[in-house]
Amino acid sequence: MKIAFVASEVFPYAKTGGLADVAGSLPIELSNLGSEVKVFMPKYNMFGEVEHGLHYQWNIGEIPVRVNGQVHSVHVHTAKLPRSNVEVYFVDCPYFFHRFRVYTNDHDEDERFILFMKGVIEILQRIGWAPDVIHCNDWQTGLLPLLLRENYGWDKMFHRTATVYSIHNIAYQGKFSKATFSKAEIRPEHFVYGGLGEHEGGVNFMKTAILTSDVINTVSQTYAHELLTPEYGEGMESFLHARAQDFYGIINGIDYHVWNPEKDVLLPYQFSSDDLSGKLQNKKFLIEQLGFHYDENIPLIGIISRMVSQKGFDIIGYALNELMQLNAQWVILGSGEHRYEEMFMQIKEKYPYKVYFYRGFNNELSHFIEAASDIFLMPSRFEPCGLNQIYSLKYGTVPVVRKTGGLADTVLDWNEHLAQGQEIGTGYSFHDYTAHALILSVQRALHDFNLKNVWHKIQQNGMNKDYSWRKSAEKYIELYKQAVIKRLG
Ligand code: ADP
Ligand code: GLC
Repeated sequence: MKIAFVASEVFPYAKTGGLADVAGSLPIELSNLGSEVKVFMPKYNMFGEVEHGLHYQWNIGEIPVRVNGQVHSVHVHTAKLPRSNVEVYFVDCPYFFHRFRVYTNDHDEDERFILFMKGVIEILQRIGWAPDVIHCNDWQTGLLPLLLRENYGWDKMFHRTATVYSIHNIAYQGKFSKATFSKAEIRPEHFVYGGLGEHEGGVNFMKTAILTSDVINTVSQTYAHELLTPEYGEGMESFLHARAQDFYGIINGIDYHVWNPEKDVLLPYQFSSDDLSGKLQNKKFLIEQLGFHYDENIPLIGIISRMVSQKGFDIIGYALNELMQLNAQWVILGSGEHRYEEMFMQIKEKYPYKVYFYRGFNNELSHFIEAASDIFLMPSRFEPCGLNQIYSLKYGTVPVVRKTGGLADTVLDWNEHLAQGQEIGTGYSFHDYTAHALILSVQRALHDFNLKNVWHKIQQNGMNKDYSWRKSAEKYIELYKQAVIKRLG
């Protein structure tokens, strides 16, 4: 099968969150399964072209793409995803993408991604490659299925091309004013009240995608169920209900070439489930670097996250005073909303001997924290899939999570299963989104941390789980087949 995989961020070129990890690894597994895959992303100016082996495509040349009545020149570069033959096509338009950030609050954020979507379609035409499926991801690609069907409906090349749309996060829908539809030159009838593109008087890329893609999915089964409820659906639940026949949940996999403590080159000490001594050495190394007192019996709790309300920082805030009374050390990495950054700056000042906070994005440190910590805290309000808890499992770092979305699907609560006589738990989870429930779960974890045999068992259970892409990529192939059947049927 020929698959065009379209995303606004792809690891290792540009990353703000888990979408980049998915876009940088799922295509490789699809290719291993025999598909021909090409990945498309914007060419931002934050990554090194030489370092990543980008080549300008002279044979494609300059492509004029019109957005908001202006014609922009698009050029194309390509590179291969590391350790693969999967080609990445970079849509190069400096006017829109040389802004030192992946996402902006600029007035033309809609235009940036309209150009991207049109650019992808135009490149496919130029290279004469008609995919069986165009796999779109999140709002930045949400108008592509409609554009393909209508604005490029004249091109017979795409008549058999199906579209799949993955929702990685319903909280970001691509909401703009109604002027956006004319910027994209989409037929105005779609903007009447209740039309494909209209939502609450504006344009909504996510709604358009939900209603116009052949098949839709999200990144865990539980989140797929949650999205059908008003509590989680963020206003999209009725449209998803309308498409329930074509709406699926497939859990993300992870790339064990990048996230594997046995071979992780970003770690001072590698380790495996057979021999965890390297994990302890990482902990000692990190703790001493931070200037904390090292005692292997004091648990180290890690947090790595975008600092947005989705991730549970409100309840962490309410719980913080009590959490600081516990016998634990903390290492926190993240950036985002000012109020949360401020909260951790203050707590670091108040408890400098036991709390470290790094404000910013740091890939190397994220690996180090995963390896060195005993416990990983991820009490999300909602979580479509979540990757960090899956990395934690692999690194013998026991996750404490809220039971929602992908967290519910990947972390098995130790006590809950023990009560049924099963020692299969891999972490701790709680249901209620409250500081109280969070604290109780952290306390349960700290209690078991002192019971070395129990703790070792929980670590082993997690480390032996297999969340590699293979099974999920096979499910995507089935999804693509469904989409093609829908398209041709
Ligand atoms: P989301 O996509 O909602 O942010 P995920 O858990 O799916 O959540 O993925 C987050 C990804 O981004 C992980 O790979 C995580 O390690 C990474 N990450 C998040 N914040 C940072 C940071 N401050 N520095 C380095 N990596 C980060
Ligand atoms: C989103 C979600 C996260 C998911 C990631 C990759 O950013 O917030 O839960 O793991 O996408 O699908």
